[in-house]
Amino acid sequence: MDVLVVDHPLARARLSTMRDARTDSAAFRAALHELTVMLIYEATRDASLVTERIHTPVARTDGFRLAKPPLLVPVLRAGLGMADQAHKLIPEAQMGFVGLARDEATLRPTPYMESLPESLAQSPVFVLDPMLATGGSMEYTIRLLMERGATDVTAVCALAAPEGLKRLEEADLPLRVVTCSIDERLNDSGFIVPGLGDAGDRQYGAV
Ligand code: PRP
Repeated sequence: MDVLVVDHPLARARLSTMRDARTDSAAFRAALHELTVMLIYEATRDASLVTERIHTPVARTDGFRLAKPPLLVPVLRAGLGMADQAHKLIPEAQMGFVGLARDEATLRPTPYMESLPESLAQSPVFVLDPMLATGGSMEYTIRLLMERGATDVTAVCALAAPEGLKRLEEADLPLRVVTCSIDERLNDSGFIVPGLGDAGDRQYGAV
């Protein structure tokens, strides 16, 4: 499993804003939006292109577009805060949705909605979720995608815990992870340390 850590100075600065407990919801959402642009930019660095001849006002030249725009799949709720920015960078992308809530006692994901295309055999998929903690939510989501034929999945996360990465590695999924940081560990409550708290609550409030 390939893991790309995006440690650009601007990404580290935005992630620090998100980590800071004094950052309010509006500023947290803004920092996540900006971080998402950087993550998607790096996640598409090696995307294949189609070449087509175009006319500038001056001459003919080669133009380029993505050969296979990815399906974007935000994991609700927290992943919603990455969806619009990812879509702005890849406007030709389709978007699917998966809704999961992690049970606070068992730490297992409880699914409550999914809206995905029937077949994903031809399509790269970018799963958007700010946090990869135990990895249970990501593994559940990837297995849903694999049931529809996906073979090329990228998890785009602000933060990842080593425990979650290990779990995904051992699950041997067709997965690449793009994240800004691999943090130290999970605590007894399943929170990433040092982490940033709960990305859903920090964006939308605890409901
Ligand atoms: C958080 C986070 C991930 C998941 C990570 O969501 O956004 O989806 O937990 O934990 P895991 O790797 O241990 O599965 P949460 O379930 O709190 O829901 P929310 O997005 O609605 O806040």
